[in-house]
Amino acid sequence: MYYPDEFIEELRSRANIVDVIGNYVSLKKRGANYFGLCPFHGEKTPSFSVAPGKQIFYCFGCGKGGDVLKFLMEYENISFQEAVQRLASELNVPLPELSDTGAGRAERDRRMRLLELNRDAAVFFYAALRSDAGAPGLSYLKKRGIRGETIVHWGLGYADQRRDSLYRYLKGKGYEDELLRDSGLFRFSERGVSDRFFQRVIFPILDVNMRVIGFGGRVIGEGEPKYLNSPETELFDKSRNLFGLNFAKRSRQKQMILCEGYMDVISMHQAGFSNAVASLGTSLTERQAALLKRYVSELVLSYDSDNAGVKAAKRAIPILREAGVEPKLLDLRPCKDPDELIRTKGPDSLRERLSKARNAFLWEVETEKGNYDLQDPAGLNAYYQAVGKLLSVSFSDPLERESYIRAVAREQLIDYELLRQLVERRSGEQSPLLNPPGRGDSREQRRSGRRAESREQRTERQLIAWLSEKPDMIPIAEKHIRPSELSDEICREIFPLLCQRLPASRILDRFRGDEERYERAASLLSGDPVGTESDEKALLKGLEDIIRSIRLRRLNEEIERESDGERLTELFREQSALQSFRLS
Ligand code: UTP
Ligand code: MN
Repeated sequence: MYYPDEFIEELRSRANIVDVIGNYVSLKKRGANYFGLCPFHGEKTPSFSVAPGKQIFYCFGCGKGGDVLKFLMEYENISFQEAVQRLASELNVPLPELSDTGAGRAERDRRMRLLELNRDAAVFFYAALRSDAGAPGLSYLKKRGIRGETIVHWGLGYADQRRDSLYRYLKGKGYEDELLRDSGLFRFSERGVSDRFFQRVIFPILDVNMRVIGFGGRVIGEGEPKYLNSPETELFDKSRNLFGLNFAKRSRQKQMILCEGYMDVISMHQAGFSNAVASLGTSLTERQAALLKRYVSELVLSYDSDNAGVKAAKRAIPILREAGVEPKLLDLRPCKDPDELIRTKGPDSLRERLSKARNAFLWEVETEKGNYDLQDPAGLNAYYQAVGKLLSVSFSDPLERESYIRAVAREQLIDYELLRQLVERRSGEQSPLLNPPGRGDSREQRRSGRRAESREQRTERQLIAWLSEKPDMIPIAEKHIRPSELSDEICREIFPLLCQRLPASRILDRFRGDEERYERAASLLSGDPVGTESDEKALLKGLEDIIRSIRLRRLNEEIERESDGERLTELFREQSALQSFRLS
């Protein structure tokens, strides 16, 4: 069920984005835009901007952006529909009937039904934990130190020993078998249908928008498998979610803590560390790292202290770095995991260890040491070589590398000059390998989640930014550029919409539902923090360069493909004419 687009547009035009956001963030006018401290990531200098002209916001630090509804969704942790309802009630605008038309309706309906089903299942498990049949589950949780309010907070539940309790319950609510099958909560076989989870404590898994997308279930006490999880479904993609992120994202700290398991996260939150999340037993994916990057710039790895945990941490470090998140390491020893640390040594001990969390690189060097016999000259040499290699492959930025060489030399008592030479020799050998596309990004670019752009991407980004800032230029651009000439998929989609003079907030509507593309579109439409040149002549000159470079690229591509001589002559003529192309 959806509100009609016209209503959304009407609502947005009645709300002034500066006033609405101004209720949450203190904003100061600078040029045409307003700036303030970003509420979505910790920062000390304002990089969060609100553009009244475009009615969108954008943070140049963390990359969050969108229209006024998107702001409410993110800030209040609510769905799109709830944001619409809230804004309407604040502005005293009557809500229309939810309408049931539009493209993709069947698919959206299905997703909605699956979400409802999951929500119903969560409620069922939750109630079961409090029922007589749930006594074993409740006493198990109590035994592990989980308090009543924590059970409520996380919506923990219980699946009893009957193997069809949930099935019968959901059938009774009218769900058809096909949907039940797709939910992943049941096993269908010739002998019938049975519940996937029975005799287990249930951990509902929520996405960042607080929707139940899957479940984990733990055996009571000993047993195999210890945890059973929902299989991947249309709703549940493990590689794109983190357990606990729905709460952790609200903690608004500069760092999050990444654990391995459900119980670690729950224990941490219960002890006051509400910035803990877990990757749920799978190794950290690029997607998850990118997701984390949207909220924090620093992450404390708090994996189990056993071999498997160390290995998993080593795998996670480069993935985090690549995503622009600075990894640190928490030393849990002699405890196995954070849950054990909290229970045996108390929250203060965890707090202290957090303050001492180690730089991930220095930690890696330290653990590498364990692989060599340092008493033996050959072993020592091999260790030095390994350190040199680690240093040269981990940092492409010379300044950064330099400071790490110094730190390692100091800490590992290696002669600084020697270590530097070692690293230099290594980087000399490997330089072509060291700079595959995308790897040479500056730290800043990685931090802002932006990869080094190709020249054409930069040109196209500039085009979109300028046109959204200076609609006067649209007719000129429209005359000289065809959308199909743009190489970037999102620019290609935005360009014609700008030409139709759609406001930025309406253009963004087209991307709603896909967070990654939505945010990139918001970034493109927001342009540069300093704003755009206002001198008419300079603008025309700039646009001229952009148009020339876009056309030139297309022409060159065509020339490469063309084999017909006559046509080639024509193309070459066009190419040289383009050199003297002028707008004015
Ligand atoms: P752990 O065994 O470290 O979990 O596995 P834990 O949370 O510390 O468990 P207990 O309850 O305190 O003993 C880490 C995570 O790996 C996944 C789960 O998500 C678990 O939280 N896992 C583990 C499984 O999916 N299946 C398993 O059989 C074991
Ligand atoms: Mn544990």
